[in-house]
Amino acid sequence: MYIDFHSHFLPQIDDGSRSIEESVKILDIMAENKTGAVIATPHFYCNEQSIDEFIGKRNAAYERLKPHLKPEYPKIELGAEVLYDAALVRHEGLSKLCIGGTKWLLLEMPYVQLTDRIINGVAEIVDRGDVKVLVAHIERYLNFTSMKELKKLMQLDVLGQINAKSLTKFSSKRNCMKLIGDGFVQVLGSDYHRIDRGDVPVKDGFDIICKKYNDFAEFAKRNGRAILDDEELYDII
Ligand SMILES: [Fe+2]
Repeated sequence: MYIDFHSHFLPQIDDGSRSIEESVKILDIMAENKTGAVIATPHFYCNEQSIDEFIGKRNAAYERLKPHLKPEYPKIELGAEVLYDAALVRHEGLSKLCIGGTKWLLLEMPYVQLTDRIINGVAEIVDRGDVKVLVAHIERYLNFTSMKELKKLMQLDVLGQINAKSLTKFSSKRNCMKLIGDGFVQVLGSDYHRIDRGDVPVKDGFDIICKKYNDFAEFAKRNGRAILDDEELYDII
């Protein structure tokens, strides 16, 4: 069974699932594709709402979905996909946005060239000590920034997640495999939003990676568990 670290299947809370029915269809697909656990990570923008407002809405969306959950569905943990903003460095209560009671925060970088100022801002978040940073879909920033700048970010004390869908596309697969080979990727996410936008379950990504790195799925599973249990991570490939 796989762990999916990034998804927007909670109904009507962000640009993800538009209804309970759609959430159920997404969870059906995850269950059919051996997803044993999934983190619900709705978008959080610190300039648009308070952390407590966000958590109230997210938990309410989960409660609406709960009566429709089936026994075969992945175990659900709640989290957030937090868009980087310089204000986060001093934002109070950031740890409330972490994944399922752990210290791990899924951080989305802005879609611009990564400057030293932004990278230093992430370093300051890491230095806060109350959260640990898991950078969301690291391969996507290569549309805006160089591999050199991305590596500078990933050489901080952070972990990296990539999207399964990026592995299924010729244009992004090469960069994903390079980032994996360089040891910057610990876990995968589906980043599932809607059933009609070509999102794929994490299994599709693992199947592709394992043709080259055959123990990666096992590695990601162990590290995924270590993240959820807030324990030390294993060595990277
Ligand atoms: Fe996302």
